[in-house]
Amino acid sequence: MKKLFNSIVLACAVALSTSALASPNDGNFLAQRHMKKGIQCAQCHSNNDVNKPVRKAECLTCHQSYEAMAKRTSGVEPNPHYNHYGDRDCSTCHKGHQRSEVSCNTCHKFSLKTP
Ligand code: HEC
Ligand code: HEC
Ligand code: HEC
Ligand code: HEC
Repeated sequence: MKKLFNSIVLACAVALSTSALASPNDGNFLAQRHMKKGIQCAQCHSNNDVNKPVRKAECLTCHQSYEAMAKRTSGVEPNPHYNHYGDRDCSTCHKGHQRSEVSCNTCHKFSLKTP
């Protein structure tokens, strides 16, 4: 009986810990969409350190350069990847695990939508 109780406690602990750990996988945010393509946490979080900010160098190992991104969105007005605001970290707009932002709109009112 004690054994059964212990295994129930253990099962609850496992269920709790996996639900807490699952949060970076939740929703359909940028990280989740990447992970569906087989990309691992460590490919965005260098050394698998999720407490450090994700710098543009990590994104650019796959996405080449700001120039390449500016070319992809050259039809968008204003071009979010080529403007006076400069080459910021991608995560100022593209959030990993929550809704993305348009950082320009702290000053402007553009109807851009960041994926
Ligand atoms: C497509 C790239 C990408 C992938 C893949 C990714 N993340 Fe993230 N993650 C980010 C970005 C961007 C941030 C925001 C960091 C910042 O503020 O600079 C972030 C932030 C976090 C944070 C800080 C809290 C938060 O929500 O902002 C945690 C924890 C985290 N990621 C865990 C994970 C884990 C665990 C995985 C794998 C299951 C993962 N991430 C996969 C891009 C990614
Ligand atoms: C390991 C490679 C890799 C890394 C690292 C990576 N990406 Fe991607 N990303 C891809 C691939 C592959 C696609 C799908 C093909 C495409 O659209 O280029 C993609 C697509 C995207 C898209 C468009 C599709 C969507 O779901 O929104 C955005 C936006 C994007 N990435 C932003 C980022 C940002 C920002 C970072 C850094 C936080 C990042 N990526 C890091 C490989 C990567
Ligand atoms: C100022 C905010 C901002 C920053 C900074 C930014 N992006 Fe974007 N990004 C956007 C917006 C807005 C779009 C959607 C444009 C559109 O309407 O198609 C976009 C679209 C994309 C796409 C999809 C392009 C397509 O073909 O549809 C990719 C990939 C991407 N960004 C990658 C990056 C990477 C990598 C970085 C960093 C080097 C970065 N972005 C920095 C705002 C930003
Ligand atoms: C800290 C405030 C601030 C931020 C953030 C900012 N801008 Fe601006 N921007 C300005 C100011 C100030 C001007 C010049 C005054 C004007 O013409 O409205 C300007 C002018 C412009 C112009 C030319 C005038 C116009 O409205 O057509 C464009 C285009 C522009 N910004 C795009 C962007 C884009 C795209 C981003 C984000 C990637 C951005 N700005 C971020 C303050 C900002």
